[in-house]
Parts: sequence; structure tokens; C-alpha cells
Amino acid sequence: MNFNFDTPTNRVGTDSQKWQKYAGRDVLPMWVADMDFKSSPAILAALHERVEHGIYGYARPTKATMDVMVAAMDSRYGWSIDPAWIVWLPGLVCGLNVTAQAFAEPGDEVLTLAPIYPPFISAPKNSARVSVSVDLQLKDGRWDIDWDALKAAVTPRTKLFLLCNPHNPVARVWRREELTRMGEFCVHHNLVLCSDEIHCDLILDDLPHIPTALLGEEIARRSITLMAPSKTYNVPGLGTSFAIIPDVGLRAKFVRATAGIVAEVNALGFTACEAAYRDSEPWRQGLLAYLRGNRDLLLDFVARELPGVTIEAPIEATYLAWLNVRELGLKDPIAHFEAHGVGLSDGAFFGAPKGHYVRINFGCTRSTLQESLQCMKKAVAAIA
Ligand SMILES: Cc1ncc(COP(=O)(O)O)c(C=O)c1O
Repeated sequence: MNFNFDTPTNRVGTDSQKWQKYAGRDVLPMWVADMDFKSSPAILAALHERVEHGIYGYARPTKATMDVMVAAMDSRYGWSIDPAWIVWLPGLVCGLNVTAQAFAEPGDEVLTLAPIYPPFISAPKNSARVSVSVDLQLKDGRWDIDWDALKAAVTPRTKLFLLCNPHNPVARVWRREELTRMGEFCVHHNLVLCSDEIHCDLILDDLPHIPTALLGEEIARRSITLMAPSKTYNVPGLGTSFAIIPDVGLRAKFVRATAGIVAEVNALGFTACEAAYRDSEPWRQGLLAYLRGNRDLLLDFVARELPGVTIEAPIEATYLAWLNVRELGLKDPIAHFEAHGVGLSDGAFFGAPKGHYVRINFGCTRSTLQESLQCMKKAVAAIA
């Protein structure tokens, strides 16, 4: 089946955070991580049907939805889960915050790897936990974990490790050996391992996604896996995500931390989620092919047309690329690129030194990507 990702859908004047940011300005929004594509036809049809029903009472997943989730984990990753392990959440940022509150006390330390999606740093801080990040290192053309630095960062107050797999913003898929080592590291230091796998169905290279919880009993017993259909099927505004927590004690602690505070998932979210995991695989394959095309275009354009800008490592997953712009010598690259018509994410928000990195979202039509790259070319040429 062919899906058309080239036809633009106008988002100007809608509730889109991405597009509202530059409302009334001639700036293409290439920042926040949602895509400019409609969701899969299967999701749209399921939502239409659900809306037609006309009653939107308090919702809980049906057995059919739970069966779809269990089947999806099995067929995609060979992960045999019990439906009781699933805890539904209205978002994964919420999941990170709940995790920090449930598994660390105020003043305890929460480890992560930087640069990183900002809520990995802010979630511990929001509840007076201490965020400790260890920088990834660029080694032989890929982002790697500095194991010595990670080990050195552990103190008696370290309680939790927040992992991002695939890793936003460096677009890295962690390999089995690395995940096993991370798991063993957590076992050795008695840390809870929270693995945010929101981008796991957006792997562009021929690499498997390996849920961290699959790496052995001992690792599974201390693992919280966060997943959602939101990034892959472009339904983040429907607020439907879930944690998979095999250990009953860990799960009880997590659920206790949500009590009375965390909103339930809504009726439309469950509908979209079921249609995503059950009926949208051909669409996802089409999306991945299109994103690969965008990624290759981006890599080629940056290498040929943007002197002073580099993509230092392969973009293995996600629709986000991490661009080193340090050589441009700009104090505020975001303002400079905006002045030339393209809105990027500031690398400083992800923990990079100010002025060194920007992130671009290439989950858009090819023509939008091409237009934004032309804006970047003008921006680079304008630097004296
Ligand atoms: C790694 C990661 N986790 C979580 C989120 C956001 O999740 P949610 O919208 O479900 O809160 C993002 C969004 O970009 C992300 O990249």
C-alpha cells in the first residue's frame, strides 16, 4: 500500500504548539518533536468511529486493547508481558516525574546521559531530587557512554538511572552489549532503571529495538519501561502512554506515586493506541521509508551546503538530528537561524554548551525540509 507523506496539511491557525510558536512570522517550525503528517488512515478511521459514538465517559482499556498491546510487545520485540504490568499514563514526561518521586527521596541523585531530552534533567529537580548527568563522548564517529565517568558519578545517594533508548537528541540506538552493561551497572549499584523507549518504533537503520527489561530477570526486576504510540503515529496530543513494570513491588510504588494526581487516559487515546499497534504497520513502514529519505537528504545537504555545520554521528533513529554549529561562532544560533526563517531547538536545553549545538526535526514533508535547509544555507552564508 502506498501512503502519501508529500501532501502538506496546513497547521497554521490550529492548536499546534509547534506552529503557534512562530504565528505571524515567516519562520518554519522545525523544533518540538511532533511530525507534520496526519496519523495513519487506520487511526483516523478508528477515531472517526469513536467520535461518532458520541459518548466520551471515563475510559479504561477494553480487553481487546490490552490484547493488542500484549501481542505488539511480543511480535515487535519478542517481549512476553503480562497485561497487569501495564500502567497507563497521560504522557511520558509525567512518567519520568512519577519515577523520580517514586524511586528517589528528596536529595537523592538521579543519573542520566547528556545531552538529553530536557525533562530527564528537570523531572528529578521538580521534586527536589538531584539530577546528575554524565556526558556522552564522541568516539570513532559515534556517541558512546563514558563508563569510567558513569561509575565515578555514583554515590551512596544515587538511586535511579534514566535511560533514553533510542536516545534523543543524538539519535543513537543502544546495542545489546551496551544495554546489558547498563543493566548490570544498575544491578551492581542497586539502581532502579527507567528506560524511556518512546522512539523505539522509529529506528531508521537495520537495527533491532531491545527493551531493556528483556536483558534478564535481575534487570527486569528493577526496570520501568516507558512507551507510547505518540511519536511513531503522531498522536502526542492525545496524551496516551504507558509504563511496563514487571516487578509487583516496583509497580505498586509507581502507582502509589500517581494516586490522585496523574490523570487517566482518555477515550480517544485508547482508540488511537489500539489502532496504532494493531492496524498501522504498513503505514509505519511507509513513514520509515520517507523519514530515511529525509534523513539522507539532510545528511547530504549539511555535508555539501552548510560549511561549519556537522552531523557527527549516524542518525540511527528518530526524526531528530543533532547538529554541531560551534564552528559558526554564533552566540545565539537559534536567534540567527530564526532571523533567516527556520526555527530549531537550542542544544543548550539538552545540556550542551551554549552556541555549540542545535536540533532539527525532519518529521515533515520533503518540501518543508528542503525549504528549511535553504533558509539554513542563507543563514550560514550571512555570517561574516
Ligand atoms: C525521550 C522522550 N521522552 C518523552 C517525550 C515526551 O513524551 P510525552 O509527550 O508523552 O510527555 C519525548 C518528546 O520528545 C521524548 O523525546
